[in-house]
Amino acid sequence: MIEHSDALIDELRRADAIVLGLPMYNFGLPSTLKAYFDHVARAGVTFRYTEKGAVGLLTGKEVYVFSARGGLYAGTSRDTQTPYVRDILAFLGMDDIEFIYTEGLAISEASKQQGIARAHAEINQLLGSPLGREGQDQSAQAQRDKQRDEEDADLERRDRRLVAVMGARRTSELL
Ligand SMILES: Cc1cc2nc3c(=O)[nH]c(=O)nc-3n(C[C@H](O)[C@H](O)[C@H](O)COP(=O)(O)O)c2cc1C
Repeated sequence: MIEHSDALIDELRRADAIVLGLPMYNFGLPSTLKAYFDHVARAGVTFRYTEKGAVGLLTGKEVYVFSARGGLYAGTSRDTQTPYVRDILAFLGMDDIEFIYTEGLAISEASKQQGIARAHAEINQLLGSPLGREGQDQSAQAQRDKQRDEEDADLERRDRRLVAVMGARRTSELL
């Protein structure tokens, strides 16, 4: 039991970025995720008590929480998941958290598609941060490569025409 807990804590310690899947089950988080938090929240290891209160020891990490729900809760008082997950992560020292919601999955096909599209838009917006810039740099490079390929192809076509003309001239000279 302690080995399992140690392994989970070790994994968290080594991570720079953490991705959590957070489905809503009966208005709360899945019992498995609660059990996970119980395994990784350990006094003196992942947090410690001070005179000023508890201090989280898992610092310097980015956390991305992907939340899936049948209904619509984000931004309402019925969303008890978000504050709980934010609190427990902050308690452990993680306060750089992004929540990405995919909601309305059980209402209708249209609301499901809308929920997925919204989540995609949120993800794309997030990709405006470092990872996205890298992606944009790559796409700019891809554009430059494409342009160079087109120029090379133009030159090749021109060379072929020149060779053809020269060849034709030579041929005509021979005639
Ligand atoms: C046991 C169970 C309970 C659920 N309870 C809720 C709920 O209270 N509110 C809600 O909006 N969706 C609820 N759902 C729907 C899920 O949040 C939704 O289907 C989500 O996509 C599940 O994610 P998963 O496929 O990763 O498990 C429930 C689903 C299951 C299986």
